[in-house]
Amino acid sequence: MVNLATNSVSSENRSLVSQKYGAIEMPKLEYTDAIARETAHIYERVSHVIPSIEWPFFAPTISAINKLKKQRNAVILAHNYQTPEIYHGVADIVGDSLQLAREAANTDADVIVQCGVHFMAETSKILAPDKTVLIPDMTAGCSLAESITAADVRGLRKKYPGVPIITYVNTSAEVKAECDICCTSSNAVAIVESMGTNRVLLVPDQYLAKNVANQTDVEVLTWAGACEVHERFTASELRDYRRQDPGVKIIAHPECTPEVVAEADYTGSTAGMINWVKTKRPEKVMMITECSMADNVASETPDVNFVKPCNLCPHMKKITLEKILHSLLYMKDEVIVDPVISARALVSVERMINLNS
Ligand code: 13P
Ligand code: SF4
Repeated sequence: MVNLATNSVSSENRSLVSQKYGAIEMPKLEYTDAIARETAHIYERVSHVIPSIEWPFFAPTISAINKLKKQRNAVILAHNYQTPEIYHGVADIVGDSLQLAREAANTDADVIVQCGVHFMAETSKILAPDKTVLIPDMTAGCSLAESITAADVRGLRKKYPGVPIITYVNTSAEVKAECDICCTSSNAVAIVESMGTNRVLLVPDQYLAKNVANQTDVEVLTWAGACEVHERFTASELRDYRRQDPGVKIIAHPECTPEVVAEADYTGSTAGMINWVKTKRPEKVMMITECSMADNVASETPDVNFVKPCNLCPHMKKITLEKILHSLLYMKDEVIVDPVISARALVSVERMINLNS
């Protein structure tokens, strides 16, 4: 656990934060009867996945964060891959990349705390440039966002003149600024088909691009990026699981390889997968994605049996309750996007949002 009493914020920085946002004292993080009562309704939601013996470690921080959110007029946007104590304990809005982007554009709060990875916080800042956008760990990256630069996109423009360039939202603001439009896993096929051309470039996820290509007549050119979490699943391991357990339903994220997707009963964004489980209520399901998803849905669908495999996203897991508390107390780390880049990236993001609304 991060030792908040000896956090890395210097006294000089603290005084700057106090002047700008108002000082708030570090709350006492004790598990008292009052905290137990106050958080009992939250524990009910996670009791399926968090043993009662662990609750005294989480509850005081959850209570402190929920109070601080009001004091700072902050909203917590949490991706579906966040751990259950964040997802069910402190998040105001949960969702996939598209849902979180929409909420960032519409929130009335002064402060957005993005519990997800850096490109998600940047997207919020692009859509809400006047808000203070905080990320509890600035190093929470993404292998897809790392795989392509703005210079790479400029190179593609030269190589394929006139071919529209669609960027998956898992990219930096600089890359979004160079592309024509964004897409997420929940709208990629619709965005590709909306371009009105026979050929598009869809960067940087080669597997998402190939999975989209399998669902459309448009020719989809790819880039060599991949999600380090989803590319590890293999079709043969899924076939083995199905042989061992013929009744199991398998649902996969489109960042998996096309061979894995071909083995799945359903493929969709993280929100699409959650929705599928909530509406189909399979007896047994295997979610071929990040591990926390199953825990988060399991809390809401106790009648469904979730079976492995899953893989952890090391970047998503950098966000913890302690760091969220730290973020709200000391208003860090603030996500800043160069205004010129931001304005150009906004065109790509808004085109996507407007096409889908
Ligand atoms: P979703 O938009 O489906 O939530 O995906 C984001 C992501 O990073 C999945 O790895
Ligand atoms: Fe990036 Fe993959 Fe992690 Fe999603 S799961 S944030 S695509 S590394």
